[in-house]
Amino acid sequence: MDKMITVNNLAFSYTKRPFVEDISFEVGKGEIFGLLGPSGAGKSTIQKILVGLIRNYDGSVIVDGVESKKHTNAFYQNIGVDFEFPSLYEKLTAKQNLEFFGSLYSNPLRDWKELLEEVGMLEAADKKVSGFSKGMKSRLNFVKALLHNPQILFLDEPTSGLDPTNARIMKNMILKEREKGKCIILTTHNMEDATELCDEVAFIVDGHIKAKDTPHNLIMSRGAARVTYSYLENGKEQNRTTLLSETGSDEILHSLLRTNQLRSIHSSEPTLNDIFMEVTGRSLV
Ligand SMILES: Nc1ncnc2c1ncn2[C@@H]1O[C@H](COP(=O)(O)OP(=O)(O)OP(=O)(O)O)[C@@H](O)[C@H]1O
Ligand SMILES: [Mg+2]
Repeated sequence: MDKMITVNNLAFSYTKRPFVEDISFEVGKGEIFGLLGPSGAGKSTIQKILVGLIRNYDGSVIVDGVESKKHTNAFYQNIGVDFEFPSLYEKLTAKQNLEFFGSLYSNPLRDWKELLEEVGMLEAADKKVSGFSKGMKSRLNFVKALLHNPQILFLDEPTSGLDPTNARIMKNMILKEREKGKCIILTTHNMEDATELCDEVAFIVDGHIKAKDTPHNLIMSRGAARVTYSYLENGKEQNRTTLLSETGSDEILHSLLRTNQLRSIHSSEPTLNDIFMEVTGRSLV
């Protein structure tokens, strides 16, 4: 596998107390790796280390073949960063911001008009950023991260503050980047987004990885999926629940299936948030 990011035994502290410890993971091309955890867990700190903003860490952090603390400016040609707090020039228009930031790279740039159109902001191209809503700034910041067509993307809470329609657009764009083979690190508090987007997630609590696996494996390995069904008995609706793993021995269910008498049936798996609480003893939402 082509690994774009390899982190080994990463440790870092802001003060004398260790803050982030024993962090190891790998992310390949065409993969989305999610960092999930409560506020203050260390997610943004880990992202800052990966993009070379913090250099005094221990362990090894190889991004695009470079130990991140030893990076030179060329490192940033292949990295796109959409961090929590948009870094845009308020007095410039959306277009001027993109032209300015684009000019910092030697890569061929993507068509900013197309990107703005995709996030539904083409009409705002000539408007000053100072008049933009939080969601507009956040969408423009995302476009800025894609502009120089980097192979590695760092997205910190990309859908926070967006309405459902714009969040959907953003998620579809992230999935399209993955299809193109980009390597993506995504931080989110949103477990549904993580379940949908991430190939692998790490639960981060107090600067440590408490679990790391695909969302599907995390969900399936822990909680038991259930099947709930309803049927009529003497004119009254009855509901029954059985474990998915035990449907084979549920005689009532079998008889209802044979005689087409089921009124409804559905299965329910635990959510990633249920698993997060089970593994870490903390809630994310
Ligand atoms: N420069 C700094 N000096 C000392 N401590 C810092 C510094 N920057 C961040 N911290 C500490 O790191 C913690 C925040 O870590 P981080 O931003 O990585 O969390 P996070 O998981 O991204 O949280 P959130 O979900 O709120 O974004 C805070 O508790 C803060 O006290
Ligand atoms: Mg953060």
